[in-house]
Amino acid sequence: MAAGKLVLLLVVLMATTTSRAAAAAASMEGRHEEWTAENGRTYEDAAEKARRFNAGGNRTYSLGVNEFTDLTDEEFVARYTAAGYYSNATSFEFGVAVHKLPGFMYENVSLSSEGGYTQGIDWRERGAVTNVKNQGNCGCCWAFSAVAAMEGINQITTNALVNLSAQQLLDCSSKDAGCNGGYFTEAFAYIGDGGGITTESAYPYQRAQGSCRFSAGEEGVATIRGYQEVPLNEAALAQAVAHQPVSVAITAGGFRFKQYQNGVFMADHCDDDLHLNHEVTVVGYGVDDGDYWLIKNSWGTGWGEQGYMRLQKDQRACGIVGTSTRSIAPAYPVMAA
Ligand SMILES: *[C@@H]1O[C@H](CO)[C@@H](O)[C@H](O)[C@H]1NC(C)=O
Ligand SMILES: *[C@@H]1O[C@H](CO)[C@@H](O)[C@H](O)[C@H]1NC(C)=O
Ligand SMILES: *[C@@H]1O[C@H](CO)[C@@H](O)[C@H](O)[C@H]1NC(C)=O
Ligand SMILES: *[C@@H]1O[C@H](CO)[C@@H](O)[C@H](O)[C@H]1NC(C)=O
Repeated sequence: MAAGKLVLLLVVLMATTTSRAAAAAASMEGRHEEWTAENGRTYEDAAEKARRFNAGGNRTYSLGVNEFTDLTDEEFVARYTAAGYYSNATSFEFGVAVHKLPGFMYENVSLSSEGGYTQGIDWRERGAVTNVKNQGNCGCCWAFSAVAAMEGINQITTNALVNLSAQQLLDCSSKDAGCNGGYFTEAFAYIGDGGGITTESAYPYQRAQGSCRFSAGEEGVATIRGYQEVPLNEAALAQAVAHQPVSVAITAGGFRFKQYQNGVFMADHCDDDLHLNHEVTVVGYGVDDGDYWLIKNSWGTGWGEQGYMRLQKDQRACGIVGTSTRSIAPAYPVMAA
């Protein structure tokens, strides 16, 4: 993309917050109108505009203007998603093979017989989720997905909620591709291989990859033995999420996902080609407003419900338990004994 356009987009992004606040009372469409006028954007025709901000039938959720509104779907996917589609994963099997622990430890969990789980679970309420982060223009969703799962199991095991370092994973998990993508499983394998993961305050996020500043001799605050994968069905995912936050890959490229503001996002409104291109963390599920998965994203608090999405459950949910063409199993870290 031309440098001039990039500068314009940055200005647009900076202008977002104030224009959005001022227009809060206006209708959503009105706001979009204002947005396009303010930022000097015009669309090809009414059809394109409608496509970009369609009304969408009987939706159980709302779309809104956010900092991603003015990006094309392609620009958006390129900058804010980027899961691990950069190469053929077989070359990375070594670290994964060592730390991918056999079996599924929650396979015999009966959610109906365990206290409260049928009413849903929200790991935020149980103190196992830190504030929503913003990955910025760096495709390291995989690192934030792994970090949220690590923060969860660390709190559940030690009772201490601590922000952990996505930057350490970005810089040091060499089998991932930094801002160009990666897999949470490789991040778990890295954490299992090395000294664990340190805190965000010791190794803060910088929105760009740097050289690794965590040496093998150092000891992180959270260490793991490895990870396990969840069988590719939503019942198994619920068994796991009932016990800890779980990393998942998701189809996040579509316009509606990008502009999601609140409500329960409908699973058949994910992007059409069901391309798994983003990684997030499931930090609960619920039954009010219909069954949903509670997703923690890493796009800041301006997206969705303060950075979270409630995603319709029991519909293969935007690929989090696989699509017809491609699957990446959900996975969770297993603490050292
Ligand atoms: C919305 O719901 C109504 C009543 O259930 C139905 O008749 C209509 O076809 C639905 N519209 C869309 C666009 O799905
Ligand atoms: C991945 O595998 C495909 C098919 O075997 C091959 O065409 C492609 O070049 C490979 N990509 C990389 C990055 O090695
Ligand atoms: C689940 O139950 C089966 C049958 O009793 C048993 O073989 C298996 O080891 C159990 N799995 C776990 C993780 O405990
Ligand atoms: C995590 O970091 C954020 C931002 O610095 C801070 O507001 C929050 O209190 C931290 N959370 C914990 C549990 O330390």
